[in-house]
Amino acid sequence: MSDLLGRAGAVLDANWIGQSTKPSTRLYPHQWSWDSAFAAIGNSARGLPERGIAEMQTLFGGQWSNGLIPHMIFDTTAADYRPSPSVWGTADLAAAPDDVLTSGMIQPAVHALAIRAVGESLEPSEQRNFYSRCFEPLRAWHDYLWRERSRDGGLVEVWHPWESGMDNSPLWDSALQRLDWSLDEVPAYERVDTAHAPKHVRPTTLDYDRYMWLLGVLRGHGYEPKRPEDLPFRVADVLSTSIAAAADLELAHIADSLGAPSSEFRDRAHQRGDSLVEQCWDGDSGTFLNIDRVAGESIAVTAASGLLPLLLPHPAIERQRLIAACQNSLSVPTPMSGKGFVVSTVAPTDPAFEAERYWRGPVWINLCWLIERGLRSQADGRHLADELRSGVLSLVEHSGFREYFNPYTGEGLGARDFSWSASLVAEFVSR
Ligand code: SER
Repeated sequence: MSDLLGRAGAVLDANWIGQSTKPSTRLYPHQWSWDSAFAAIGNSARGLPERGIAEMQTLFGGQWSNGLIPHMIFDTTAADYRPSPSVWGTADLAAAPDDVLTSGMIQPAVHALAIRAVGESLEPSEQRNFYSRCFEPLRAWHDYLWRERSRDGGLVEVWHPWESGMDNSPLWDSALQRLDWSLDEVPAYERVDTAHAPKHVRPTTLDYDRYMWLLGVLRGHGYEPKRPEDLPFRVADVLSTSIAAAADLELAHIADSLGAPSSEFRDRAHQRGDSLVEQCWDGDSGTFLNIDRVAGESIAVTAASGLLPLLLPHPAIERQRLIAACQNSLSVPTPMSGKGFVVSTVAPTDPAFEAERYWRGPVWINLCWLIERGLRSQADGRHLADELRSGVLSLVEHSGFREYFNPYTGEGLGARDFSWSASLVAEFVSR
């Protein structure tokens, strides 16, 4: 275990760039929003909360005046990543910050979970100081998500697959297929990701054409559409909603510890839970489903993200059914005779499942970590939580801190020495 912690620490040290952590050296050389939050969690678990403090401060440095935390903050010294800042075209937007270049999209709001984790490892006076500095930007971010992204009763809407963090998941297939786009409208773009990882483990050319087309649409609105209901891609996302609700509860805790009012944040979390239960629960699969707001229909894909309401204490969430779906539909015995089990991104029975292609089936450690946290919060889920934790540790023992893993062979895929894999393993090991 201590060896694993040491190796995880070496990855995080190598990817630390002074004020933040890049996800990996070649494929992702900038700061990404949810990656940074996960890095802060691992660094504080290994006794370096000051890195978590700096990480969050740097991220808030890229925050827009409307509260949006962009999914990327560019490191101008790093080359070889596309799309580059000029494609995003955010530099002259009034809401964007003046001193750093950012994207114009969001990512899942795990930041309050990270701030809480960092805070827990600080002395009381340092904790208070840290929480006071984070409170306003964090509240502005959560307000943005509530005001701009949760208009239909608390479910967080994503306007581009990149916003969910799960770029090419089958969750987006039907909504992308319906888009009325043409190749002539796709801005000229190049890819460098396929120079750093084999093509068969990355999104396809068709995926990227549509990503770039949609990016152009959002850019045309300055990333602040006046009428979001007219956007061509709007999906109410279970993962983004569950994380936002769990984060609202952490924000309430932070507010309490500062003596600030907190009931608004708890109410929001509860409302998000109500909406998940009323609009997304699918009794057939025993999981929660995304909703295509443009088509007005549920998206019938059984995905690991559909288990994430396990993170919430909402009384109407059918925990037993979720735990059963985790066991029966999404868990895979840990490969290489390792201990426990791991969770694939998408149910292996789904026709769109691909064992090696990015978010279409592989095991991702951040999803396993979030599900483990949800399982552990239930008395009768603790045994399974232990098994999942063992599965993840066996996987990295065998294949290293890769970006994602083939669920059947355990082979590591995508980037090597990937920050959140190392960070969340460090968190598992140092408990
Ligand atoms: N995840 C996307 C990428 O591969 C966009 O953030 O770069």
